[in-house]
Amino acid sequence: MSRTPFIAGNWKMHKTIAAAEAYVAGLLPLVGDVDGIDLALCVPFTALQAVVDSTRGSSVQVYAQNMHWADHGAYTGEISAAMLNELDVHGTLLGHSERRELFGETDRALQQKVPAALAAGLKPMLCVGESEEEREAGETERKLRHQVQEALEKVPVDRLPDVTIAYEPIWAIGTGKVATPEQAQEACGFVRALVAGFDEAAAEQVRVLYGGSVKPENAAELLALPDIDGALVGGASLEPASFAAIVDAVRS
Ligand code: 13P
Repeated sequence: MSRTPFIAGNWKMHKTIAAAEAYVAGLLPLVGDVDGIDLALCVPFTALQAVVDSTRGSSVQVYAQNMHWADHGAYTGEISAAMLNELDVHGTLLGHSERRELFGETDRALQQKVPAALAAGLKPMLCVGESEEEREAGETERKLRHQVQEALEKVPVDRLPDVTIAYEPIWAIGTGKVATPEQAQEACGFVRALVAGFDEAAAEQVRVLYGGSVKPENAAELLALPDIDGALVGGASLEPASFAAIVDAVRS
């Protein structure tokens, strides 16, 4: 079973519309001829329309960074799948550790968000990962099991292959401290095994990405691991040159 590599940049709370447009103008000449690798940018809500418009016809997909599970309602400050669909975005991050840690995102909410995104035709990228304390206490697998099982619980089995799961150990995010290849493979393999608990065929198709201090220097080694199908890149995705260098490292 071959899975198409997937490299996604998560801009987090960076870039105005003007900065986003300048970025895309810089990126497209660098990755325009990329074939056989899926690329995505996870963009702040305010710049989504501009990035959808400026990447149209290219190989770059556009993801939001969060989504509410309801279609509409009294949820001040939230954005629904219908609103994202109107902008023609391809998918959305869900459950990023910054949403979980700083903004109270729960596994229970994700249990509604993941199927809601799929039902609306948006591709969910579910983020999971343990903290440093959890790893040191030997609780990595317990945490991942809980996060993956809760979030996928209500996904119809035939839609599981449309979910991407990004394993991002919290201690590796923005720290420059990348997981060792052994740690990354072990955790991503475990995530895939958890999907196999729902459906074995889906587990072979589901893409599992690694995130946490991915750079041009370490991307190829991580993506060569058997259960790692791509990367979710934060800091190194903020400049077109370094994001394209990661794509190049994986290409070669
Ligand atoms: P960094 O690549 O900056 O460590 O961020 C990872 C991340 O959180 C991507 O979602």
